[in-house]
Amino acid sequence: SAAEKDGYDWFMRKEIHEQPRAIADSMLGRRDASGALQLDEIRISEGELRDVDKIIVVACGTAFYAGLVAKYAIEHWTRIPCEVELAHEFRYRDPILTRDTLVVAISQSGETADTLMAIRHAREQRAKVLAICNTNGSTIPRESDAVIYTHAGPEIGVASTKGFMTQLVACYLLALYLAQVRGTRYGDEISSVVRELEKMPEHVQRVLDESGPVHELAAELRDAKSVLFLGRHTGYPIALEGALKLKELAYIHAEGFAAGELKHGPIALVEDQMPVFCVIPPQGRDFLHDKMVSGIQEVRARGARTIVLAEEDDDSVAPYADVLIRLPKVPTLLQPMVAVVPFQLFACELATQKGHDVDQPRNLAKSVTVE
Ligand code: G6P
Repeated sequence: SAAEKDGYDWFMRKEIHEQPRAIADSMLGRRDASGALQLDEIRISEGELRDVDKIIVVACGTAFYAGLVAKYAIEHWTRIPCEVELAHEFRYRDPILTRDTLVVAISQSGETADTLMAIRHAREQRAKVLAICNTNGSTIPRESDAVIYTHAGPEIGVASTKGFMTQLVACYLLALYLAQVRGTRYGDEISSVVRELEKMPEHVQRVLDESGPVHELAAELRDAKSVLFLGRHTGYPIALEGALKLKELAYIHAEGFAAGELKHGPIALVEDQMPVFCVIPPQGRDFLHDKMVSGIQEVRARGARTIVLAEEDDDSVAPYADVLIRLPKVPTLLQPMVAVVPFQLFACELATQKGHDVDQPRNLAKSVTVE
């Protein structure tokens, strides 16, 4: 009913708007009296965590893209090598696991069979398993050695939004916690990043408040046959997530690419007027930002209609953007939390305009409990 949806037309739209709250709730109680980070439930000793020499993140669907973001954060802050793998691929390829491997399973529901089989396999090989999960007492956290619960509240819409957002929070907290336990050279950075994370609810709220152009865009692109999403670094998983949302909800063919890969193939797809979404990294001292800007120029020169997500004071992109969506200034590693929001809204809006059931897209289930 409309009451259950707080007056929104879809649970998904309600859940998109609940994200600032979900982030704040997922950050609550993460520090002890001394200010040090702590996890919820952990049956892995600090000594064992110091011995971890490899991390493998396993997940499916949208949770897998949270895992791709986690890799950037984990390797940067902890210097532990990190792989990210689809749970069903991991399970059946005979992965190399030892007692010093930490397998991180990300699952909103905690019941995804593919992810469950992956962690069972990992524990049989004596690897340690840490779950990031939104559902208290579900199977995956029960069968893991440690859990970080996200506090998004129940997610009803089949396509994950606030679940994904809080998975990102948990991944950053895990990376920072490991850095704290191991005392890497980034130890000092921990409290400043935690403070940045604490500001994210406000930033995400601003993106929601300024989402008008996304609605107009959905009306314009209603009849698009194929849409591309480009990003680099942490913008790459967000490009993949933007494309997945459009497939799931609007049933439009969409692909996400690492922008650096364009010239190695995907650029052949670009046709006159093809919509191409581009996630521009924050303006920094390295060349990442400028490389992404030249990526937009390349697709635009071939006739693409560019929809550019960039920091609010980034003037360098304006000449190459048909539509410009502004993002708050945040650190590069945290940018996924603000960049994903326009993509969620865009897919929700486009599907609504096409008359699709946004909460229950065809052929999909909220939680896939068969392999
Ligand atoms: C299903 C849902 C997706 C979700 C995936 C993983 O396929 O339709 O939205 O991302 O499962 O779900 P989990 O509960 O493991 O995060």
